[in-house]
Amino acid sequence: MISKMAAATGFSVLALAVILLPLVQSGNQAWPMPYKRLASRPPQNPYCQAGVVPFCPTGRAPNTMPHFKPTDQLYVYAMKAPVWEFKFGDRLAKYHIMHDAIGFHHVQSGANFTMEWYELYQLFNCTFAHVLKNDTLFWCNQGAACIYNGIDEKHWKQNGTLVKVADMSGDVFNQFANWTEQDNNTGVYYETWTVRSKPDGPLWFDSWECATWVIRAFAAMGKFGAKFDTSVHLNYTRMNIYSKEPVLLGNASTIFNGTEKKLANEVLKFYRLFQSHQSMPHLIESMLAAFWETVVEGKFYLFYNEQYWMLPIVQPHFKLTYEGYPLPG
Ligand SMILES: *[C@@H]1O[C@H](CO)[C@@H](O)[C@H](O)[C@H]1NC(C)=O
Ligand SMILES: *[C@@H]1O[C@H](CO)[C@@H](O)[C@H](O)[C@H]1NC(C)=O
Ligand SMILES: *[C@@H]1O[C@H](CO)[C@@H](O)[C@H](O)[C@H]1NC(C)=O
Ligand SMILES: *[C@@H]1O[C@H](CO)[C@@H](O)[C@H](O)[C@H]1NC(C)=O
Ligand SMILES: *[C@@H]1O[C@H](CO)[C@@H](O)[C@H](O)[C@H]1NC(C)=O
Ligand SMILES: *[C@@H]1O[C@H](CO)[C@@H](O)[C@H](O)[C@H]1NC(C)=O
Ligand SMILES: *[C@@H]1O[C@H](CO)[C@@H](O)[C@H](O)[C@H]1NC(C)=O
Ligand SMILES: *[C@@H]1O[C@H](CO)[C@@H](O)[C@H](O)[C@H]1NC(C)=O
Ligand SMILES: *[C@@H]1O[C@H](CO)[C@@H](O)[C@H](O)[C@H]1NC(C)=O
Repeated sequence: MISKMAAATGFSVLALAVILLPLVQSGNQAWPMPYKRLASRPPQNPYCQAGVVPFCPTGRAPNTMPHFKPTDQLYVYAMKAPVWEFKFGDRLAKYHIMHDAIGFHHVQSGANFTMEWYELYQLFNCTFAHVLKNDTLFWCNQGAACIYNGIDEKHWKQNGTLVKVADMSGDVFNQFANWTEQDNNTGVYYETWTVRSKPDGPLWFDSWECATWVIRAFAAMGKFGAKFDTSVHLNYTRMNIYSKEPVLLGNASTIFNGTEKKLANEVLKFYRLFQSHQSMPHLIESMLAAFWETVVEGKFYLFYNEQYWMLPIVQPHFKLTYEGYPLPG
């Protein structure tokens, strides 16, 4: 009897859960949402074409990281330069809008290398989807690691930072090289936004861009045995959105190829605000206008782990921060 009751109650609870699940799924979600890695990097869609700057023009071929004798010595540098310096000089540095990279100096040969992780098709394409003619969204949002010879000292030093942060052996570098290729082949989608409940509040979604790549690359080096100079303090740029608990909406096929016409239209309406994929001044202008609408409407539609989430945005809505993060050790 009791067990039958329990079974019956168990069943109805389960049935209720199944019915309510799509509505309250995020209620059981453990936050922050872990970033989903893929088994391998999907091929580039020919629709996605780099406009202004090609990705990694002078870089080494994919998965050909250099290797050194295990007993060799390397120095590691943290490097920062203002975003779009080629266009705006040091102007964005005043707002702490910085791009992060890592430099290596191989002591035995004197060779230098620069490594950075960035968008394949620029920031705007990684942040907002293209609305296609058949009312679906299309993303050109892959990012990747690039390694090339040399360190452009002037570029990093003049309006930015170039500071030695660690010493490592060739053996540690070789392990890091392996880590780099694994990381590059599995963590492929760029995420612009850091989503939090409030400034200094718990994280809903972490970003996945140049700065978080440097932070996890340093963590990997530390784990493999690099010796960091922890007296060096580094800050990293974050683009924050503040929101109440995010609500999972579904993926592209459930939203755009299903029965959720109303939802599909809301998401499309939002992304239509961000369709300036080409000219820079127009892009900034339209982003400001769109941000105002977002603030008024109080809704932001985020794409993360290939799923759409509604962010009920709250004060102070959106903020750039430049936050300290300690070196490992
Ligand atoms: C963004 O993607 C579109 C579509 O592939 C492309 O035409 C455009 O050049 C890209 N923008 C930049 C700045 O790379
Ligand atoms: C990372 O992946 C991209 C895209 O496939 C590739 O162009 C790049 O060379 C890779 N980087 C490394 C360090 O292998
Ligand atoms: C640094 O900023 C100044 C002022 O905007 C600019 O003239 C200079 O070219 C920048 N340096 C580099 C390396 O781009
Ligand atoms: C390598 O980079 C370091 C740090 O910028 C610099 O001091 C050194 O002169 C560079 N060496 C070469 C050969 O470019
Ligand atoms: C919409 O158009 C794109 C590009 O032509 C196509 O790849 C996609 O399958 C279409 N989606 C639907 C739901 O028809
Ligand atoms: C490379 O990395 C993978 C995954 O982290 C690990 O399983 C493998 O042992 C590493 N190989 C070497 C040679 O370090
Ligand atoms: C989209 O979500 C549905 C329902 O959760 C799932 O069955 C489907 O496999 C997902 N599709 C993709 C492309 O992830
Ligand atoms: C949309 O759904 C139809 C029927 O379920 C399916 O044949 C088609 O492949 C789907 N298209 C996309 C882009 O998911
Ligand atoms: C760098 O980060 C630290 C710790 O988060 C903070 O106190 C400091 O104000 C930041 N520096 C700048 C220039 O924003």
